[in-house]
Amino acid sequence: MTTKTIALVTGANKGIGYATARQLGALGMTVLVGARDTGRGREAERTLRAGGADARFVPLDVTDEASVAAAAKLVEQEYDHLDVLVNNAGIVRADGSALPSETTLATMREVYETNVFGPVAVTNAFLPLLRRAPAARIVNVSSEVGSIAAMTNPEGALAGLTSVPYPSSKTALNMITAMYAKELRDTPIRINAANPGYCATDFNSHAGFRTAEEGAEVSVHLATLPADGPTGLLWGFRMDEGGDYGVLPW
Ligand SMILES: NC(=O)c1ccc[n+]([C@@H]2O[C@H](COP(=O)([O-])OP(=O)(O)OC[C@H]3O[C@@H](n4cnc5c(N)ncnc54)[C@H](OP(=O)(O)O)[C@@H]3O)[C@@H](O)[C@H]2O)c1
Repeated sequence: MTTKTIALVTGANKGIGYATARQLGALGMTVLVGARDTGRGREAERTLRAGGADARFVPLDVTDEASVAAAAKLVEQEYDHLDVLVNNAGIVRADGSALPSETTLATMREVYETNVFGPVAVTNAFLPLLRRAPAARIVNVSSEVGSIAAMTNPEGALAGLTSVPYPSSKTALNMITAMYAKELRDTPIRINAANPGYCATDFNSHAGFRTAEEGAEVSVHLATLPADGPTGLLWGFRMDEGGDYGVLPW
């Protein structure tokens, strides 16, 4: 049993997840680098350790229940509890010109497996360990495109987007976050959805106008909330509000 603060980030081998692991490591946490590919996970572990973080690769494919269960078992055996879970792993896919009428079920299923079913599987597998921590924090990395209010604002920055699979997966993740917050309301656990903003990563061929490090700050903020911090919110970068941070509408 360790008294160190233990954080697990899924999809931590690159992009916003890697930056989140780096920043949590810089705060002195032991960071468990969840990655589905051993080579990429080990390489991230190596570079994070070279930067001074107490980082450890944990094999974790969020779409594979056996992999999720094995990761939870490993963390239980080695650390006994978990203080921070960042459900960061995510994918984006679209069919044709990203119109609802062109959307295939294959794409819907693929995106939901990672972005919706993944966080539920990982959260439920790790909840017993999170309950053992004094005040665990869960961060579900969502997106402003999951906000129905933002996506249907005709004057807003997202007015032109029509894709169904990815935005609706983040809408589902937002509801999932709100429902877990209800269940966990009388516990010390805080759970929130993060909007990192449009960040330059492989996810969007580096078209984003923010850095992965800036996007990761949102997850780190929610992962380090004080005891009286909020729960059940979508919080982060607000494109429609002049680019500041704050609560976003569902
Ligand atoms: N970039 C943006 O502008 C932006 C904006 C809003 C929200 N987000 C959200 O931020 C999160 C991170 O995105 P990013 O921009 O950092 O993307 P990224 O650079 O493509 O990184 C995605 C990470 O998720 C991992 N991943 C994908 N499927 C996985 C699975 N089944 N199991 C475990 N890991 C898996 C990837 O691993 P591999 O290397 O093995 O593929 C990679 O480590 C996502 O949830 C995304 O929806 C991003």
